[in-house]
Amino acid sequence: MDSARPHERATAFDRMLTPVHRWIWSDTERRVQKLLRFSETETDGGRDILRAAEVTSDPLLRRLYLEHAIDEFRHGVLFRHRAAALLKVSPSRSNPGFQGDWLTSGGHGLDDLQVDGESDSQMLAFLHLSEKAAASRFTVYRDVMQHDPPTRAIFEEILHDETFHMNYTLTQLARVEPKRNRRHLWRARLSRLWKTYLRLATGLAGILGSMLLTIQYFVILPPFAWLAKRAARQELSGWTIVSPAASESLDRQY
Ligand SMILES: [Fe+2]
Ligand SMILES: [Fe+2]
Repeated sequence: MDSARPHERATAFDRMLTPVHRWIWSDTERRVQKLLRFSETETDGGRDILRAAEVTSDPLLRRLYLEHAIDEFRHGVLFRHRAAALLKVSPSRSNPGFQGDWLTSGGHGLDDLQVDGESDSQMLAFLHLSEKAAASRFTVYRDVMQHDPPTRAIFEEILHDETFHMNYTLTQLARVEPKRNRRHLWRARLSRLWKTYLRLATGLAGILGSMLLTIQYFVILPPFAWLAKRAARQELSGWTIVSPAASESLDRQY
């Protein structure tokens, strides 16, 4: 079982991506778009956790899930309000450009949550890993946000909650599944790994597709365009007289 960590700490992978995150968050328009997307993810996650509170038969988990859902709804509101405040002071462009969404899931990973049909232990294992991922990522976001103290303060505040979520889910997993909690964590880990692979593969496929289409446009199409232009130059302009022999038959067009 993973050791409960009282304080958040970014994983090596997230730390490695710090320069990318710094660049992405440096642009106000990208920041607005990401905050809005985070707001959606947090709100959707809160809705799913609310559903988890409905379906669990464990009274303690129901209470914890309800508190958790309220936290996630509040995070959604915080992100949305901050995005709105940024929009007021910054003109919006139609295309915010690269945002690296395929590089990391929408901050939280709660967007992959499926509540119905999951046992309490599966749900807790999934939630623990999602919250841990969120705490790691939000640590990096907070650290790269020196240029925007209000947004940084929001990440700081949310990070506190995500760390609590990360810890309570692990504690509860050990309570409801004292013997097989490691197995549930590994299963949830493999499932997240597979979804991460799919997300990265989709992103890479998009980049490769764009590159191939660009190469086709500049390398393969020009010879065809040149041939078409040459053929057009050889065509006679205007009406063309057709020889009587070729137009005798009424069964065909030419
Ligand atoms: Fe959250
Ligand atoms: Fe959370």
